Amino acid sequence: MAEDKEFNRSRPYAYEVVGGTPLKGDIEISGSKNAALGIIAAAMMVDGPCTLENVPDISDVHVMMELCRSLGATIDQIDLHTYAIDPTTINTYKASGALVSRIRASYYLMGALLGRCHKASIRLPGGCNFGQRPIDLHLKAFQLMGARGARPTDIDSGIVNLNAEPLHGAKIYLDIVSVGATINAMLAACKAEGKTEIINAAKEPHIVDVANFLNSMGAKIKGAGTDLIKITGVPVLPGHFTYSIIPDQIEAGTYMVAAAVTGGDVTIHNLIPTHMEPLSAKMREMGYQIDEGDECIRVYKNSPDDEIWSTSVKTSPYPGFPTDLQPQTVVLLCTAEGQSRMHENVWQNRFQYVPELAKMGANINVYERIAWVNGIDKFRAARVEATDLRAGAALVCAALAAEGTSHITQAYRIDRGYEHIVSKLTALGATIKRVYVEEYTEDTEA
Ligand code: UD1
Repeated sequence: MAEDKEFNRSRPYAYEVVGGTPLKGDIEISGSKNAALGIIAAAMMVDGPCTLENVPDISDVHVMMELCRSLGATIDQIDLHTYAIDPTTINTYKASGALVSRIRASYYLMGALLGRCHKASIRLPGGCNFGQRPIDLHLKAFQLMGARGARPTDIDSGIVNLNAEPLHGAKIYLDIVSVGATINAMLAACKAEGKTEIINAAKEPHIVDVANFLNSMGAKIKGAGTDLIKITGVPVLPGHFTYSIIPDQIEAGTYMVAAAVTGGDVTIHNLIPTHMEPLSAKMREMGYQIDEGDECIRVYKNSPDDEIWSTSVKTSPYPGFPTDLQPQTVVLLCTAEGQSRMHENVWQNRFQYVPELAKMGANINVYERIAWVNGIDKFRAARVEATDLRAGAALVCAALAAEGTSHITQAYRIDRGYEHIVSKLTALGATIKRVYVEEYTEDTEA
């Protein structure tokens, strides 16, 4: 069941959190946001219907579904997490409306439409504001596969017009490990003539999930999850298959942090423990108990008086420490003894939430890409703004730990990527609800 059905999310709202209660109990992780967004785009290339299961009920997914419907795809929601998708009714290769700039992952439609129509006309995507988010590597890959219109100077009033007759395989070397460019190149390559190699590919779990989905539809992709992906293009992806999306690594990590920072004892189910290893290892180093089962992790402290030690963390592409868990982990580092170091190695400017966290008592000095985090006794309640999706989740973690009532405004940003966060946290004993606040203007996100 969708939570808060009667709550009108088109009005400005905040999360109201009364903190100070250790979280306790069990929680289920939903389907991966980033895998779902890639897979929904990939489904637009298929030549028959398919069914997607374990699709998270989050606003980014709703926008992506709407965007695909606007291309002509037939999408029926069977239940909260299951969609029947028939892309054979697609009647345009143009996606230039406002929906495109509401989510970053709309850029996957470039690869998907190139694969399906050999043409794509798409507005540049938006993005959470944590530094420059270029798509030069995506365009370079398309150009190598024969697409015209992929040079930066070809972009016309923010719209990329790609045309590839024929679309052919290519050897694509990515100068920087990019999740988006890897998925986009993989999508187009599935239906290109001949063979493609993506060298220095990203290895994130959702890349493997998109590849597994495409292979189940009839694609020939090998090596996803390594830094060399080899694809043999096929003329037809028959489809007629049901695919279930993997659990969300970042949602799981966020609840691990929430459990720890409140001094709680939570077992998080329906996750893949190996995906959590970078965070689990750091949390163990800090002194937390992390017990792994087949598909679950329990987070707790042996004794409430156990000391939590400082540590140093550096974000990097998978299997490194995920940048999307960086803000939440900084919240955890705030509660450690002494000074910790967080080095943001993926995004240029991903510490914009630090002034908000400072309102809650955090003592953090940022110098370029490094945050020096000084341990504090306790967070204090405050009114703060969710500057982006993961920053918002981090502020929720801090608010859960703080004594008193906090408000996290621009909460719609958190609802972009966390399914039913209010009911999930409430079930763990938290006091959290959505409340209406004064006006805001919804901006471009991803
Ligand atoms: C995806 C995730 C995002 C996550 C990020 C890194 C989705 C929808 N979003 O974003 O949550 O933070 O991976 O794990 O899945 N770069 C270039 N040129 C390009 C593309 C990227 O220079 O053409 C650079 C970026 O500026 C960044 C780095 O490469 O410094 C990694 O970006 P990338 O992996 O592409 O991130 P996204 O796919 O946009």
